[in-house]
Amino acid sequence: MSLPPLRIGQYEIQYPIIQGGMGVGISWENLAGTVSKYGGLGVVSSVGTGYRHPNYIKLKDGRPIGSKYIHNREALQRIIRDAKEIAGGEKAVIGVNILYAITDYGRVVRDSIEAGANIIITGAGLPLRLPEYAPEPHVALVPIVSSARALRVICKHWKKKYNRLPDAVVVEGPKSGGHQGIPYEDCFKPEFQLENIVPEVIKERDKWGDFPVIAAGGIWDKNDIEFYLSLGAAGVQMGTRFVGTFECDAAPEFKRVIIESKKEDIKLIKSPVGYPARGIITQLIKDIERGTAPEVKCTSNCVVPCNHGEEAKKVGFCIADRLGDAYLGRVQTGLFFSGSNGYRIKRLVSVKDLMRELVEGIPSGQEIPEGEPVESGKQL
Ligand SMILES: Cc1cc2nc3c(=O)[nH]c(=O)nc-3n(C[C@H](O)[C@H](O)[C@H](O)COP(=O)(O)O)c2cc1C
Repeated sequence: MSLPPLRIGQYEIQYPIIQGGMGVGISWENLAGTVSKYGGLGVVSSVGTGYRHPNYIKLKDGRPIGSKYIHNREALQRIIRDAKEIAGGEKAVIGVNILYAITDYGRVVRDSIEAGANIIITGAGLPLRLPEYAPEPHVALVPIVSSARALRVICKHWKKKYNRLPDAVVVEGPKSGGHQGIPYEDCFKPEFQLENIVPEVIKERDKWGDFPVIAAGGIWDKNDIEFYLSLGAAGVQMGTRFVGTFECDAAPEFKRVIIESKKEDIKLIKSPVGYPARGIITQLIKDIERGTAPEVKCTSNCVVPCNHGEEAKKVGFCIADRLGDAYLGRVQTGLFFSGSNGYRIKRLVSVKDLMRELVEGIPSGQEIPEGEPVESGKQL
């Protein structure tokens, strides 16, 4: 089966594949720009952008000071413009992922739109006020939900208050990398698994309109994509597989941690954001358990639910500093998010090859159609 295009608002994406936003620094200009260039929707992460362009910001002990510098306007705008440039210029379509839980959410939405973001994707909380910050009709609004109930609450509120509905909705199941939208125990229950929540979210969507439903969490190959399309989804969002690309903006050390991980190393951990998060059990997680992880200082004031480091102290680590360290390639103190499939990444491939694999169903670097040269992936 050839994969159909995906329409989100006024934008048509050639293939129904969204590269999920990944922070800190996993999906910036290079990954997002290249995914859009090869026919998917590339999504820039808006969190921790001060780490990308430290020359724009103020630091204390090597950390961005406060939300103005961690979720930095100039750095984010430069990333969005550079992503568009890589994707083919002004007309290219780029999404921006903005966690609802970050401090300065509304300001970051405005910063993104000013820099040319076409699609705003928001999870980590119900983005009830998103249409207020993004009233421009050409900017498509896409909430991420983990249940039909969450979609209902958003549609009801947006319709009543802003006379607006989502332009698409991402449904994320508990195999996904990073933060989950449901409590720890629910992540293991059958009724919260992706294959069971997608049909329910589609039923809820039908009550409101016909915007696309996009499935996310644990999707690996073309068979998985076809499975979710057969359930009625219009597309998929994938994160972990894109970490295993040359173009991914993560440090080489991050890619090595994921390539060397084993199935049993990928687990749900507690996070100061208030939701469980899926990541790789590394030295940091052992140090958190022993109480020997780096001290919580809250220099960056990154997310509202952490309450200036109060939650961080309870769970034993600062999320901004630890994700920042992963971006900087510090393996001992970094926090490495991954979906439950991370251990299946064995080597890096190019985004072009990965997109082709996903679209044509041919594993990258194995069966190469005659007459078409393919760059081979190399071992780190
Ligand atoms: C390293 C990593 C970081 C992530 N960071 C974010 C983020 O900042 N915001 C967000 O909404 N989702 C984030 N996610 C989730 C992805 O956008 C995507 O929805 C998810 O990874 C899909 O599941 P998969 O990894 O099994 O493909 C992250 C995922 C990974 C693997």
